[in-house]
Amino acid sequence: MEAAVGAGSNNGAGTSVSTDLPAARLIARLAPGEPEFESRMRESLARAEKWLQATAQEALDPRVAALIGHLADAGGKRLRPLLVLLGAEFGDPWADGVTQAATIAELVHIASLYHDDVMDGAATRHGVPSVHARFGERAAVLGGDLLLARAAQLAADLGPAAVHLNARTAGRLVAGQLRELAGPGPDEDPVTHYFHVAAGKTAALLAMSLGIGAVQAGAPAPAAAALTEYGEQLGIAFQIADDLLDLKSPAGVTGKERGKDLLAGVASLPVLLARESTDPDDAELCALLAAGPVPPAALPRALELFERSAALAEAEAVMQRRLERARTALGALPALPARRALLALCDYVALRTS
Ligand code: FPP
Ligand code: MG
Repeated sequence: MEAAVGAGSNNGAGTSVSTDLPAARLIARLAPGEPEFESRMRESLARAEKWLQATAQEALDPRVAALIGHLADAGGKRLRPLLVLLGAEFGDPWADGVTQAATIAELVHIASLYHDDVMDGAATRHGVPSVHARFGERAAVLGGDLLLARAAQLAADLGPAAVHLNARTAGRLVAGQLRELAGPGPDEDPVTHYFHVAAGKTAALLAMSLGIGAVQAGAPAPAAAALTEYGEQLGIAFQIADDLLDLKSPAGVTGKERGKDLLAGVASLPVLLARESTDPDDAELCALLAAGPVPPAALPRALELFERSAALAEAEAVMQRRLERARTALGALPALPARRALLALCDYVALRTS
């Protein structure tokens, strides 16, 4: 039976807001030696965090506030607000609406996680029980809807450009997830299908984050377009990096068990490439993956075969090409600390997998 919405206490509204968010620590690593830039980013991230806590839970029954504050309180990297703020650096970073734009990006992200965890039956997220584990599935779905509604409300306050970006992105997220659910069509190449899913599920929101930040800050249109393209490419690379981490990361680095995707039969890019591989060295791996989820007893062998497979190397090469496209998109932007940070973010994504 589902737990009642009122099972928890209000753990969100009114709590103090940390200025040492993971995104703030990341920015110091991405653009070292830029104290003014770093302190502006820290301050803006903290403001966005306050908005996140307040907007999500404003004027709600404390039990519902606890429901929709659950994941925001649990943590998260705040990568999307960071991208909004980096996009805003190419205009006036203090312009009205930049903080709200950062809040919108995180609200949409969190809303999608509420729904995703229900769909995946995930027990935990960010090291705490998933929303549905604590509040029940029906409440989790409605909590996600409410967060999405709050994002739409904030976008309406910002004007038609933000409304459009927010609506289009939410649509791309849902369409990407539906496409993943449906699997490749009868005549569709599974790798092409993979890229469509990754573009919707992952890249769309990263692209929107950079774009909405630039637009709210009044950056020139070509800069906003370049930043959006950067986000699209970074997003695909990010998804592939995630796929690679499942196969490569020592236990504990990602907080997820190594090979979890293989056991669950997830059609990650390395898996799809291994299935298609004609390299004789990949033959045993190909046979292991052909039947769908890898049986637990075969996991150590599958991971061992992956380590030296052409498929893994090819997936890494695809990720590197996407990162190169992301870097190229930044080519014409002014040499601001934010551009340096975005370039370094590409290296950071690649480094996570090496
Ligand atoms: C995580 O994927 C999920 C996403 C990045 C997006 C999921 C999108 C939806 C559920 C559509 C609904 C969207 C909105 C805006 C309400 P994953 O399961 O591969 O990764 P994980 O390991 O982090 O769970
Ligand atoms: Mg999931």
